[in-house]
Amino acid sequence: GETLRQAAKGRFLIGAAVSSRQLGDPKMADLIARQFDSLTADNEFKPISLQPRPGQFRFDAADRIIEFAQAHGMKVVGHTLCWHSQSPRWLFEGEDGKPLPRDEALRNLKAHIDAVAGHFRRKVVGWDVVNEAISDRPGEYLRDTPARRAIGDDYVVKAFEFAREADPDAELYYNDYGDEEPGKLEKTLRLVRELKAAGARLDAVGIQAHFVLKDADSPDQLERAIGALAAAGVKVVVTELDVDVLPRRVRGADVAARERGAADPYTEGLPPDVAEAQARFYERIFRAVLKHPGVATRVTFWGTHDGTSWLNFFPAGRRTNHPLLFDRGHQPKPAFGAVLGVL
Ligand code: XIL
Repeated sequence: GETLRQAAKGRFLIGAAVSSRQLGDPKMADLIARQFDSLTADNEFKPISLQPRPGQFRFDAADRIIEFAQAHGMKVVGHTLCWHSQSPRWLFEGEDGKPLPRDEALRNLKAHIDAVAGHFRRKVVGWDVVNEAISDRPGEYLRDTPARRAIGDDYVVKAFEFAREADPDAELYYNDYGDEEPGKLEKTLRLVRELKAAGARLDAVGIQAHFVLKDADSPDQLERAIGALAAAGVKVVVTELDVDVLPRRVRGADVAARERGAADPYTEGLPPDVAEAQARFYERIFRAVLKHPGVATRVTFWGTHDGTSWLNFFPAGRRTNHPLLFDRGHQPKPAFGAVLGVL
């Protein structure tokens, strides 16, 4: 049958998050190369993976992803150069846990970006330069992070400057979750304006799109956010798409509910009615993307089949989630047909 890759060709890139280990499994490699034309590493391009200790770079796993992509005519997206999570502490903090002096932190940030973006020059199409810098709190603009504590609010602009110097050909993205929601979109548009005013290169805003099936507003919010970002002069990339079908709970309550054995309703498989509801949800997401040709230029799923999803572990405890287009046996789910149907 037709694949996602064939159906999206010429309209937008269609990608998946993968690990180098998965690419070594022939059955996984086949699914990935047939269905997708672009890859993001789920973990192996993050600062903690690439530079675990000062000046010690480990590129082998990431390079295997590049090689696979080249062998199958796929693009690679770099994720990510600057993030508060999965980054070594020494980048922005002293051994006492206190923020480094600004110059030292800036030197570390520049050295990381120079080495990493330099290594992958001409091998990646673009970089999530900064990930998740915006605060979720009403009234607070930037998130309190080690980089911000050491450098100040302009750490975001600085990261974009360093990235452009290290790889002048790569597209540069700002990436976040929930940035399609009105309150956070407002702050995202502010960041877009500030980056542009500072003369930074900003090609697109990344919308992670970690959706929850019961949040029926999300596809409409996505559609509006794409329009608003286009009007602000940037493109949009949907960078980490999935549709969580499990009841969402706060971390503590989730763990407590699991202990009572109540948190994991679909361990035997996704019931047909839920699979259908998920298919309709995915359909609306892709319709939103298709409304903005040339603006929404990529859709990347955060995983390939349901067994590879981070949502089997997040937010806490082991659960059996079903957020993607293929089931654990690599078979297409109703959502796969629904997406092909609108493309
Ligand atoms: C996740 C990975 O998928 C997991 O394997 C890891 O344990 C935690 O990070 N937003 C992001 C991604 O930008 O980097 C995260 O990836 C998911 C949320």
